[in-house]
Amino acid sequence: MNEFFNKDIISIRDLTKENLESIYDSTNKIIEMDSSERREIARGKALGYLFFEPSTRTRLSFQSAMALIGGTSFGIADVQSSSIQKGESLADTVKIMSGYTDALVLRHTLDGSSRFAAEISEKPLINAGSGTEEHPTQAIQDLFTIKKELKKIDGLKIGIVGDLKYGRTIYSLLYGLRNYDVNVHLISPESLKIRTDSTYDIKKELSYTESESLDEYIEDIDVLYVTRVQKERFPDMQEYQNVQGSYKVDSKLLEQSKDNLILMHPFPRTGEIASELDSTDKAKYFNQIKYGKLLRAELLRLVLTE
Ligand code: CP
Repeated sequence: MNEFFNKDIISIRDLTKENLESIYDSTNKIIEMDSSERREIARGKALGYLFFEPSTRTRLSFQSAMALIGGTSFGIADVQSSSIQKGESLADTVKIMSGYTDALVLRHTLDGSSRFAAEISEKPLINAGSGTEEHPTQAIQDLFTIKKELKKIDGLKIGIVGDLKYGRTIYSLLYGLRNYDVNVHLISPESLKIRTDSTYDIKKELSYTESESLDEYIEDIDVLYVTRVQKERFPDMQEYQNVQGSYKVDSKLLEQSKDNLILMHPFPRTGEIASELDSTDKAKYFNQIKYGKLLRAELLRLVLTE
């Protein structure tokens, strides 16, 4: 029996390097599988999604991943059209949905929401973004993308730029990267530096620098991971105005970069990466999004089948 069968996926912290490497290998097997064989994987099974925050990629990639492996999916994409609007609790919503389905995917505004919901759910629950805390499936997809595009993760120099305070994908990515021998450069405005309360325990395992200057590192890095400033999480719009547009990655900036640099972004982008880069060999963000569907198909296979 595979060790993820019937298990929740709440934090990338719960996965070892061996787990991650095994997931990349088995995702490659799903890619290579005959489509009729793939459709047998989740035949007769249903995925329930509960999204308390907007999403395009995560929800739709889970839905298309479930279709790819022969299952169905339904759920709440907009809380306004559900009984949550009438005051139904998260606990009751999760309990009811888990009775209709074989696995749940939850995105919620609150840190800790997925771990809380997993205790109530009768079926395995996958965290699709919990507050500013974590977005584990995004990070597994990001690590898979680096491995696919550069054939390795160990030995790389990785620049992560943007909103490092509120961006939950960053935390999951850093927790995942601590399994590898990498040098990380964290680049952000002073007010958007990473939260030390969420990273103090990884300092021994992950070597990183912090800076406000992208120019300082652009010549040296192998991966440039760009994030948007998370407007919706700012308690003060003036604070947001002060930092929005702090970084813009364009062809002029990338003239200084290594020939084989790869440019990544979890998306949505809101002006941090110029669209002139989309057709260049360095732009890997659309591949990253495509890998997300295949990676999620594999995660669903793992939690749904023995
Ligand atoms: N990357 C990501 O989580 O995108 P969505 O918010 O569109 O799901």
